[in-house]
Formats: sequence, C-alpha cells, structure tokens
Amino acid sequence: MYPYQLNSLEEYHRAYQKSVQEPEEFWAEIAENFQWKKKWNKVLDWNFTEPSIQWFKGGTLNITENCLDRHLADKGDQAALIWESNNPSESSVTYTYTELHAKVMQFAHVLQNNGVRKGDRVCIYMGMIPELTIATLACARIGAIHSIIFGGFSAQAIADRLDDAQARFIVTCDGAFRGAKDIPLKSVIDDALVGNKTIERVIVFERTRVPVSMLKGRDVWWTDEIQKVEEAGNPFFPAAEMDAEDILFILYTSGSTGKPKGVVHTTAGYMIWTNYTFVNVFQYKPGQIHFCTADIGWITGHSYIIYGPLSAGATSLMFEGIPTYPDAGRFWDIVDKFKVDILYTAPTAIRSLMGFGLEHVVDKDLSSLKVLGSVGEPINEEAWQWYNQHIGKNNCPIVDTWWQTETAGVLISNLAGVTPSKPSYATLPLPGVQPCLVDDAGKEIEGNGVNGNLCIKFPWPGIIRTTYNDHERCRQTYFSVYENYYFTGDGCLRDEDGMYRITGRVDDVLNVSGHRIGTAEVENAINMHTGVIESAVVGYPHDIKGQGIYAYVIIENQHGDAALTKQDILQTVSRVIGAIAKPDKIQFVSGLPKTRSGKIMRRILRKIAEGDTSNLGDTSTLLDPSIVDEIKSGAFKFFRMMY
Ligand code: WT7
Repeated sequence: MYPYQLNSLEEYHRAYQKSVQEPEEFWAEIAENFQWKKKWNKVLDWNFTEPSIQWFKGGTLNITENCLDRHLADKGDQAALIWESNNPSESSVTYTYTELHAKVMQFAHVLQNNGVRKGDRVCIYMGMIPELTIATLACARIGAIHSIIFGGFSAQAIADRLDDAQARFIVTCDGAFRGAKDIPLKSVIDDALVGNKTIERVIVFERTRVPVSMLKGRDVWWTDEIQKVEEAGNPFFPAAEMDAEDILFILYTSGSTGKPKGVVHTTAGYMIWTNYTFVNVFQYKPGQIHFCTADIGWITGHSYIIYGPLSAGATSLMFEGIPTYPDAGRFWDIVDKFKVDILYTAPTAIRSLMGFGLEHVVDKDLSSLKVLGSVGEPINEEAWQWYNQHIGKNNCPIVDTWWQTETAGVLISNLAGVTPSKPSYATLPLPGVQPCLVDDAGKEIEGNGVNGNLCIKFPWPGIIRTTYNDHERCRQTYFSVYENYYFTGDGCLRDEDGMYRITGRVDDVLNVSGHRIGTAEVENAINMHTGVIESAVVGYPHDIKGQGIYAYVIIENQHGDAALTKQDILQTVSRVIGAIAKPDKIQFVSGLPKTRSGKIMRRILRKIAEGDTSNLGDTSTLLDPSIVDEIKSGAFKFFRMMY
C-alpha cells in the first residue's frame, strides 16, 4: 500500500543509510508516489548560511489533489474525516473522501467569490469543527496561504498576527464549544479588527448560535455563501497549480523574543514529510482510524489530523472537546465508540487523566487500539507506564515523537513496533534526519553517552523555509547560532546505544501543557499592566502541565491589595496573549537579580522557583546581591502560603 513504509528494523537501517548517502535518490523515489502536475527537475538545492532550501524545484502540484482527488477512485466511499462533538449527545459526522472533496471545492468557490486569490493570506480562527478542516483545504485548493490561529488566543494576539501576515480574509465562527464553556470567537475577531487595515472580508460559520454583530460589507455568513454556490450549480473547482516551493501556510509560534514568528512551510516538502512520517511512525494500515487529540490551531493538528492522514488516504478522527468533559473518560469513550486504532496525544493530557483514577478507564473497550503516540514535551516515566499499562494494555507500542512547529513533522521517534522503544526516549532519527549534539562553542560532540545542544546537519523535506516577512530572523534564530547547523533550541542526551533523549529547551521558551510560550512574551504582557514596573518570568516543574509559569513582578504601589493586583495582572496577560499564558504563580519583589550590565540572572530565579535555594551558584557578580535573599525569603513565605 505504501511502498515506502518500513516494516522491519533492518529496513529502517537500510533506508536511514540511503537517506544519508544518497538523499536526492532517496527522496525522489518517495516523491514518485505522489501526484504531480509537473515533475521536478532538481530534488534538493540548499545552503544553511542564507538559509535557502528548495525541495523538488521546478515541480508543480496541488496538495489537495494528493489529499482528496487521488483517493476518489478507490476510496471515495471510505471515511476521510470523522468528527465527534464536544457534546456527547450531539451526533457525530462522517465525511467520505467523495463528500469531503465536494465540500472543499464548494468552499473554495466561496473563497473565490469573496475575492480570495492565489497567494493571499487567509486567517482561520475557528473551533474544532469539520468546517475548519474544510476551510483549510479550500485555501490550499485555491493556493491561498492559510494562517490558522488557535481559538485560545486573544484579540491582541490575533491583531498582531493579522498585521504581520497582512491577511486579507478571515474565516471564523460565531463561537466555539469547549467543555462546559463557549468561547465567543466572532466577538474576539471584532476586537482584533479595531484599527486593522488589511482585512476585507470575514466569513462566519454558525456553531454556537451566540448573538454576533455582522458588519455590513465586511462580514458574511458561511451558509449564505454556500447557498449561492449551490445555486450557481458548478460544483467542480480546479486545483491551483502550485510550485513545490510555494508557501502552503504560516503558523505563528513563540521564540525567545517577545514577538511570535510566522513559521513558513511550503507545498511539496511539507506534504511529503507529513505523509512519510505519518505512514512510518504510526505504521498506519489502510482502513485504520487515526485519532490525534491535538487542536488544528497547533502544528500537530495541521500535520497529523489534516495533511499527513489525508494525503495517505487514512481515516482521521477530529474531536471538538476536551479530555475531561463531561468526564475524564471522554477519550476512552471515543476510542470505544469508533474503535480507534491509533491514539496520538500529549503527556499533559495523560498526566491529567491519571489523576482522575482508573474508574474512567476500566469499563471502556480499548481493545481496538494498536499504536499509542505522545507529543509535545518529554513524557515522564510514570505517565509512560500508565499509558502503556492501562490504555495500551501492555500490547501497543508507544511512539514518543520529538519534533517542532519548524520541522513540519516528526524528526526523532521510534517506529511503532518496528524500531525499539525506550521510556522517556524519543530514540532514533527518521530517515532523512541527521541529528548532532554540539557544545556551547558549536563544536560537535561525537560518540555515545554524551549531552549537548541538539542540532540537525542536513535538510529534510519539511524543514522551515523562512519566517514570514523576516528572513533574517529565521537565519538568526535557527541557522546562525551554530554555523552550518539547524539549531532546535533543545538540549539532548545520546545514550550508550545511540538513542536520543530530549532534556528540554535550552533557551527562554517554556512548554506549558505542550504549548510553547516565550518568557519574554509573558513579560511584555505583564509589563503592560499600568502598575507594573518590571517583571521576569521563568518556568518551574509542574506535575500536570510539565512546566508552570512563575512571574517575579515589581509593582509601583507595594502597599495596595496584593490579591487584587495579581488578578489584574492575570487579566492583562489573558487580554494580551490568551489564558494559556497566565502565570501560575506571581511573586512581588522589590528588585530583580541583575548583573552590572543589567542582564537578569534567570538561573537564580529558576532555582528559587523550583524551590531549590540551597546552591544558587556565584552571586557576586550581581549589582545588588542582597536582592537574592529578599526574593528567597519572599518565595519561602509564598510557598508556606500556597501549601
Ligand atoms: C518543542 C516544540 C511537536 C509538535 C508539538 C509542539 C518539545 C516536542 C517532544 C518530545 C520532548 C518535546 C521540544 C520542542 N517537544 N515533542 N516528544 N519529547 N520534548 O510543537 O510548540 O513547536 O514545540 O516541544 O522542546 O522544541 P512546538
């Protein structure tokens, strides 16, 4: 079915070797399995100095023909997308490949009728409903660039992203259901559009029926526009011919500076990488049901709900709700109901569900499960064991998949049942991925049993191409820290067997419940509160979230109502970024530990936040060493109050 699916350890080793020794031949052979409008004339052209990376140069294609049209002949009646509502009493929806194809073409007409052209940026801000997948693929059909924004981001965060992408169109919903809450998406969009100069049209899908205001001339209803297309009666929409390196989408992600960056992925390389990794990591077999619990607003949803599975002709299950609503058995109910074969979720979800006990698991039939996946952060051994024992019944390989928004798909992971697994290790690189560890001076650390900064030496088809509108930022962030390498920002251990274990970020990026948040971004948000003079944000170990956010804040009026000020600060962060970035702990301080050159010594703050004040290292270079004692004793009081 998939000639490039690796079915044994030996095949993996052989493929890996070939991918290193003859990368162009290796990827050309795989690319032959896709539908091209015009064949490429050069498989790979690259240098990491600019950087300039081009895969399948000269080739043209449309990713939706690969995700939809080409499956119609033999899989037209097979489910492409299964959707499960937030509300268990609402019926689920299934779209076959034929139906999804038709829906995507219909909405492509809507986009075109509303002025969307090839190359335009379309922002999508929707809940997890099938129309989100449809809108995404309709953009790709036209050749418009989608920029999906997670439904948890605030108006301010959206406004910044719209502006950066110079987006002309928005597709949104009146609201979104999320557990017991509903989120007023359209009203957030209205706020985001105050002062916006580029948005011409907002297309609104009705989901929650919350009242919304529709601005005449700008806002239109999804269903009205669909009706016009139906009346016009010409359902086919030809797929735009795209260059292999034309931009498919922008996805914003956080870095160590305040401003999120628009990671750019292009058409052919992204398609091939998500497909290849989907088929190999999960060992997908035709007919199986793949359930990725991520939100499409993040890269995991882009790659393993939409593009990877659909390009492979798989059945992809999309879930609107949250793991704990109406109770902590929701995932297991869904697995049972649809007889899910592959479950792909995040350690934070596993840890949270573990806390609710086995009563939500025991009476569910999980025997359909064949493969379990983990993504987003290191999976601790306890969570791994629980997942293995209680969900996989010691009978399903667990793939611990390490990757990033910038990498498009999985780079380091075991292949389910094919290559060995090891708890808390991502294990071995996929074919095409050449990891290396470097010391702080950028020198490669050879051999096994070593630790270092994780870099990649050679491009794979899914590598980031640029950061939108700011190529220099891409170069500086990823390609100039260590010369001639792509730098991941992660620390990593390579054990005696050559297996990789990710040890966490080495930059100022936090991973909170699998969400990436820059400390500088949170600081900027806190500093927007009028009463705040300065702040410093660090991460600390959190039982469920993996990392929690700890904020040290200097305020003007130290004698006011501290609880009230904290509430205000939390609200400010919610307003500027979104609720996901709210600090878990705020400690008011009168100063921050700074060096004479004014640099905050985060190492000290991190230690205090971790509750480890025994050895703070050398504090003699601080401008005012006494501040450390004050913060320490403040933190101590603070901990006593908390527990
Ligand atoms: C960062 C990327 C991967 C898609 C979702 C998150 C951390 C991711 C693992 C893993 C240890 C992991 C890394 C990485 N991370 N997967 N299996 N083991 N750490 O994408 O938001 O771009 O975050 O998540 O620190 O750099 P992202």
